[in-house]
Amino acid sequence: MQSIFPNSPKKFISPLLKWVGGKRALAPTLRKLMPPLSQINNYVEPFVGAGGMLLSVQPKKAVINDLNGELINVYRVVRDTPKELLLELEKHVNSVEHFYKIRDIDRSPLFAKLSVIEKAARIIYLNKTCFNGLYRVNSQGFFNVPYGYYKNPDYHEYSKVCAISEYLNRNDIMILNGNYCDTLSHIEKGTLVYLDPPYAPVSQTSNFTGYNAGGFSYEEQIRLKKFCDIIAEKEAFFMLSNSDCSFVRELYHEYRIHEIQAPRAVAASPNSRGAITELVVTNFDCHGYPMSSVSHREKMA
Ligand SMILES: C[S@@+](CC[C@H](N)C(=O)[O-])C[C@H]1O[C@@H](n2cnc3c(N)ncnc32)[C@H](O)[C@@H]1O
Repeated sequence: MQSIFPNSPKKFISPLLKWVGGKRALAPTLRKLMPPLSQINNYVEPFVGAGGMLLSVQPKKAVINDLNGELINVYRVVRDTPKELLLELEKHVNSVEHFYKIRDIDRSPLFAKLSVIEKAARIIYLNKTCFNGLYRVNSQGFFNVPYGYYKNPDYHEYSKVCAISEYLNRNDIMILNGNYCDTLSHIEKGTLVYLDPPYAPVSQTSNFTGYNAGGFSYEEQIRLKKFCDIIAEKEAFFMLSNSDCSFVRELYHEYRIHEIQAPRAVAASPNSRGAITELVVTNFDCHGYPMSSVSHREKMA
């Protein structure tokens, strides 16, 4: 079988957006946990976010999905109209007044009239100029992160837009905007599914789930585990990232649990930055053989 991954390591493409839980820095560690590439015939990412893992492994065939419609619109616009997007980004300026004017468009009827290109440029601009590069909306779905006061934020991003557009156009990448469950029909024997959901909270106070106006509850984490069971039954491979907490360890106890050290990219205060242990759950061993009945724990530095 011909591998769906490039023969020689391609130049790393950086994600366009800063995203909570972004896997850019962790991608090299995650790559080491993947099954042998020759056994993988498709790649599916149901929670793609900014695409840290996708853009690192650069599969030639993939299905990517996210519930966040604004984010998925950015992928589609980057793929279809990169030049127009870059021209649109040039219209923005880095000032408090302009930031709040653009941010608050979603509270007005004007928002519905924006083109897909204007919407994509708005999200990229806000992502680069808002505080900490957060994507956060309130219960009504309005973007509510304040201005970041950065001196020279780079929201033109010429090289990233071109590189991501080229990757999406040169390869067979299907882009979906829905619930993670919607990717199931694309998962078959030999598919590698990398799941990076909003993490289960490690404590009562760390419950950030603001990617969408919905959140990701404990019940949803349990439904996701059942989704992983179905993937395993299909003889596909899954790799799932989540927080290191007793709830996740117990939920996935019959699978292989790897501990990895992750940098905290978006944190509430500089003092809380540093390395943190996260879990990666897999349903296969290092040779790609399935496993679902014995618990294994492995540490990766
Ligand atoms: C931890 S982030 C993924 C980060 C990504 N790996 C990256 O490198 O940027 C989780 C993503 O799941 C998405 N999400 C939340 N609930 C979802 C759902 N029910 N179905 C699909 N995607 C969902 C969020 O919009 C967010 O982009």
